[in-house]
Amino acid sequence: MILRLQRGRVVFVVAFIFAIIFFYLVAQNQYQIKNVLSSATRPLWDKAEGPKNVVTHYHSEGLDVDADVCALHGWKSRDTAGHIKVLDAILISTELDLLEIRLNELNAVVDHFFIIESNATFTGLPKETYFADNRKRFERFDHKISYKLVPGFPLQPDQSPFEQENHHRVEMTDMLRSYIAQLPPNMQTLVVMSDIDELPAAHTVKLLRTCDFGQSIHLQLRNYLYSFEWLVGLTSWRASMHVWGMDTYYRHGQSSDTVLSDAGWHCSYCFRTIPEYATKMKGFSHAERIAGRLDLLDPKRIQDTICRGKDIFGMLPEAYSYVDLFSQMSLEPLTTAVGLPLFLVDNAERFRFLLPGGCQREAPRPPTETGPMVGDIG
Ligand SMILES: *[C@@H]1O[C@H](CO)[C@@H](O)[C@H](O)[C@H]1NC(C)=O
Repeated sequence: MILRLQRGRVVFVVAFIFAIIFFYLVAQNQYQIKNVLSSATRPLWDKAEGPKNVVTHYHSEGLDVDADVCALHGWKSRDTAGHIKVLDAILISTELDLLEIRLNELNAVVDHFFIIESNATFTGLPKETYFADNRKRFERFDHKISYKLVPGFPLQPDQSPFEQENHHRVEMTDMLRSYIAQLPPNMQTLVVMSDIDELPAAHTVKLLRTCDFGQSIHLQLRNYLYSFEWLVGLTSWRASMHVWGMDTYYRHGQSSDTVLSDAGWHCSYCFRTIPEYATKMKGFSHAERIAGRLDLLDPKRIQDTICRGKDIFGMLPEAYSYVDLFSQMSLEPLTTAVGLPLFLVDNAERFRFLLPGGCQREAPRPPTETGPMVGDIG
């Protein structure tokens, strides 16, 4: 009798301890548990966002864009030839390598570039002003660049990082408006709207410059992770091109139901050095994904994640069918670098980290380009 009571008490205490450990772990990993539950069931209840009307895209090296090529896409050619300006407007954080590839890719088809950066991340942490500090590197394009530094602000407890991001988009709209207001009235203005890691191909911009696609169109981009070694799929659609009008504003959400297929590249988390990964993970608008798990910022873990093509937050991919979910969970490394930006392939040695087989990241750069090199003792 006494023995049975004691055994009951032991079972109770053990169960109690397990319950406490269980609830502690649930509380600690709330965000991850929610992610697994929602990602694993997403194909059942969610539909992909974004434009549904996909325009088949025709391109081959050397193809001349003329009225016939426009017709192939279902468009007429523009009658504004000679009275058209194409502007490229981007928000940048740290990705100077992608910026250099972009300026070279688009130089021949874009008339003017607009760049905004901040001295704080979207979550309000102070950051270097990478573009302002490295303008010499982009000297060749200086005459075509309008730049604005938008000071960041520390977030109040009731503010989300999206407010800071939105503030940058409003500033960009202002900068575009005042530039466009000074152009001759018969000038038609097209604006490419995308983040720095979303790069339309030059041939795409040339096509859209020549053919009348309507008021606005989204650009479907090949979606890469960490470098052009890991292809997630044609899942990126937010970049867009607009005919600028009285009430156009700089945006990143859906503005049209039409999207041009295979129009360029979206390279997410394509950084040269490991510290940039930690900065980005703490600094962008989804920073809650870290949710107190500082082990996610461990440099060794980040390096390993990049070389294996796994999710940097240790989460399941956001896919809308089980076929996509499973293929995105185990990406295969590409062994092709065909169809990439010309400047990247032309400078493959400098941009090794962006190409297949180049997953090993460099040691951090010295703080300034002109300062003494690490280990340089005269
Ligand atoms: C950003 O710059 C502004 C104006 O130069 C300054 O007042 C502000 O303190 C800076 N913010 C950070 C986070 O460095």
